Amino acid sequence: MTDPVQPAKRPVNPRFSSGPCAKIPTFELTKLADAPLGRSHRAAVGKAKLKAAIDGTRDILGVPDDYRIGIVPASDTGAVEMAMWSLLGERKTTMVAWESFGAGWVTDAVKQLKLDAEVKTADYGQIVDMAALDYDTDVVFTWNGTTSGVRMPHGDMIPADRTGLTICDATSAAFAMDLPWDKLDVVTFSWQKVMGGEAAHGMLILSPRAVERLENYTPAWPLPKIFRLTKGGKLIEGIFKGETINTPSMLAVEDYLLALDWARDLGGLPALIARCDANAAVIDQFCAANEWIANLAEDPATASTTSVCLKFTDDSIPDGAAFAKAVAKRLEAEGVALDIGAYRDAPAGLRIWCGATVETADLEALMPWLDWAYHTERAALSTAA
Ligand SMILES: Cc1ncc(COP(=O)(O)O)c(C=O)c1O
Repeated sequence: MTDPVQPAKRPVNPRFSSGPCAKIPTFELTKLADAPLGRSHRAAVGKAKLKAAIDGTRDILGVPDDYRIGIVPASDTGAVEMAMWSLLGERKTTMVAWESFGAGWVTDAVKQLKLDAEVKTADYGQIVDMAALDYDTDVVFTWNGTTSGVRMPHGDMIPADRTGLTICDATSAAFAMDLPWDKLDVVTFSWQKVMGGEAAHGMLILSPRAVERLENYTPAWPLPKIFRLTKGGKLIEGIFKGETINTPSMLAVEDYLLALDWARDLGGLPALIARCDANAAVIDQFCAANEWIANLAEDPATASTTSVCLKFTDDSIPDGAAFAKAVAKRLEAEGVALDIGAYRDAPAGLRIWCGATVETADLEALMPWLDWAYHTERAALSTAA
């Protein structure tokens, strides 16, 4: 049997990691030279940069004027935890999960906050029936399940006249998918995903009803300084103007501003979404043409356009996890795809980031390599047998 032939063309950028994700295609470190390093973030220049990050976020994501946007500590996790610890407990909570990050929020609500929560989960590849939830409870969910590649198809099932709050972890969805702001009361994300920013800070976006809850409800548990959004029953408005709770990285801020400029130049949110859609379509076409690989998402309407998760469908492969690892390792060794093994808690397979900073041409160049790595590993199995 002849060995599969290596493709001639390689992706220019082999970074397909699902976070931190590829930097913007025009990235150069020298472009961060305007960062006010070694200065107080409370100096006018620092404050202006932080405000520009908030304003740019509002502008590109189309966040309504009456929603607050804050830069908070500890990345997306910090923003989600802050929201959960500050808002939940006023009424019944519904916790929703269909992969490991959502499952993490469930654990926190049930085991740490000890809430009497209704827990709704679905297996990897599936999604919870979001239309069947009671939206007069507070509902916590993840828009795009980064580790299963399953996302909300839209927000139509969330009623506009709900009395509960919807708390949405949108870290691998923001800037890649349409987020229906009128259906979302809390939205969180971090910079290192679709915008290819640096990991450090979380973004916390609050609807007027979320603010109303914050100002009229005090949780039964203590809140550390790092989570506190109110003082004397009033929202700390400064947080939403760039007066961060503690010291931010101005280098990370500068990098986020650069990514926002890139996004603006591209044509804003529609252009970012189009790039993700085109990227995911390359993989869809590849799966359609090859019966040995399939999207983990069972319903194409819920298939992610950022964290695309794939499984090998050949049942005769004896150890699926070892096989998938070997394929990912082979691609990494060739320098054509870095970090594309499935997430540690997810089913065996591959996860290929298709966010806006990834070039479609690089995905197109990667597909023949996937074919090569699969057949090379398959041949190695046959030889070993
Ligand atoms: C859906 C989701 N939630 C939360 C996180 C954690 O994000 P961070 O590391 O920014 O706290 C991730 C990271 O991949 C994620 O994909």
